[in-house]
Amino acid sequence: NPTAAAKWLGTPVDELKRMPQCGQPLPHLKATYSHTVMIRTDLLREGDVPVPYPTKFKDAWDDMSVKMPCSEKNLFPLESEEGGGVQSRWELIQKALKSKFSSSHDVKDAILRYNTSHAKRWDFSALQTLCTKVLEPPAVEHLFGSILPDMAQLALSATRLCTQPIPLLKQKMNHSITMSQEQIACLLANAFFCTFPRRNSRKSEYSNYPEINFCRLFELSSPRKIEKLKTLLCYFEKVTQKRPTGLVTFTRQSLTSFPKWESSKTQFSKLHITCEGTIEDQGHGMLQVDFANRLVGGGVTGSGLVQEEIRFIINPELIVSRLFTEALDHNECLIITGTEQYSKYTGYAESYKWAGHHCDETPRDDWQRRCTEIVAIDAFRFRNFMEQFQPEKMNRELNKAYCGFVRPGVKSENLSAVATGNWGCGVFGGDTRLKALLQMLAAAEAGRDVAYFTFGDSDLMRDVHEMHSFLTQRRISVGQVYGLLEQYYSTVCKICTALRPDVSLYGFIYERVLSSSPSPDKEGGTSRP
Ligand code: AR6
Repeated sequence: NPTAAAKWLGTPVDELKRMPQCGQPLPHLKATYSHTVMIRTDLLREGDVPVPYPTKFKDAWDDMSVKMPCSEKNLFPLESEEGGGVQSRWELIQKALKSKFSSSHDVKDAILRYNTSHAKRWDFSALQTLCTKVLEPPAVEHLFGSILPDMAQLALSATRLCTQPIPLLKQKMNHSITMSQEQIACLLANAFFCTFPRRNSRKSEYSNYPEINFCRLFELSSPRKIEKLKTLLCYFEKVTQKRPTGLVTFTRQSLTSFPKWESSKTQFSKLHITCEGTIEDQGHGMLQVDFANRLVGGGVTGSGLVQEEIRFIINPELIVSRLFTEALDHNECLIITGTEQYSKYTGYAESYKWAGHHCDETPRDDWQRRCTEIVAIDAFRFRNFMEQFQPEKMNRELNKAYCGFVRPGVKSENLSAVATGNWGCGVFGGDTRLKALLQMLAAAEAGRDVAYFTFGDSDLMRDVHEMHSFLTQRRISVGQVYGLLEQYYSTVCKICTALRPDVSLYGFIYERVLSSSPSPDKEGGTSRP
């Protein structure tokens, strides 16, 4: 419907593939050398809370596993009159979290009892504002009388629930972890109460991991922080009232071989492009792109509140990936299957508002995972606009997107479309028209169609659609487009002294293609559409 007021262009969205319809049957869920499964697969039943495996807590305090708060090795210097000595930090945590909370000060005091060295630095003003100035008295009563005590109890169930050592997903690893939503809730309750050891200092052994303890969420009160706290408390309220019954899989994918972009004969796949809707709503059942930071979740536990952080707070189970996912390298991504959306929201960044509880009715697969697949891919951050057209930078972005989209061993007919948008083009300063093209090349090479959400930008919708139709009608291959991108760099960007190129990328492509083949083939038009 290519009228002036079109809200979408290209292939109708109903013609793109979604899960679960397009998927292949899943193999039986079982633990392997490359897949850690934290529950009893033989007892997995729809609607039942999964049973942790093994039964008894197995401790691991090594550099391959997450150091758990409930580990015997988690020790704390003893402050006694005689001085010296150590005590169990978990015992201290238990005592602190079993005490009654009646104000945000009590929560703060509890957390600081086992984080004494941070007592002077940590600030709880956002939590305090929420409790004293924002929530109505009945809500405050509910928070202290019920939500927080239930969360404390959930955190303290770690020895019963998270019984298997959680492997760290380090760089270069291809490994999956499947855990229950209940186990995730327990880990996140621990993150809320800041119990994870060795995770509070940037210089620690976890310096290449995202932060997991929620301490920075409580500091520096601002409207953003308040809305973030409301969103997360909505999650904790829900999971403590009724335990969720599903599983979630976290897969680190680290590729060692990539397409030869310059010589690829692959044709473009289908494109649906719209200036309305969002990846998470209209992209249900598709592979949904998280515009990530190399430390997954970015500023979710701090003050960030753009695409990635919003997704992580409305689907808080994503946050647990920060516990075990080392910074993503250029050839890597993290795929998260099965998380649930617990909150609705309105606005974006400064205008973000929690808009109440969301009831997620996404169907579950045979592993009891919600059919929601999210992939974290981190774009490059460009401080200088021209830089992104350098061939090695374009290669990096192509390979990163390809890594996120490709599923080695899965047939194209079983792959859902990619739901994406202005990846790397907000905080990271990329050019939407270049990034849209690069993502289309990567998707084509990975054998997937694309649903592109321009987030309100109708000019972008029109431009990208026009370019996609132009290239597909002329049967221009991925390799040919790659060649044009390189030419654009060498003939326009490299010699340009201004901050921005004086010829637009798309203008350049139209001109080059039309001047090299002035007579159209039988499907194409005579000029650009
Ligand atoms: N659906 C579709 N498009 C969206 C949505 C949505 N739900 N939300 C935003 N957009 P940005 P980046 C569009 O800045 O540049 C985080 O801190 C909107 O046009 O989040 O890759 C990460 O942790 C927006 O301007 O992504 C990283 O540190 C654009 O997507 C960093 O930001 C880009 O969103 C990544 O920055």
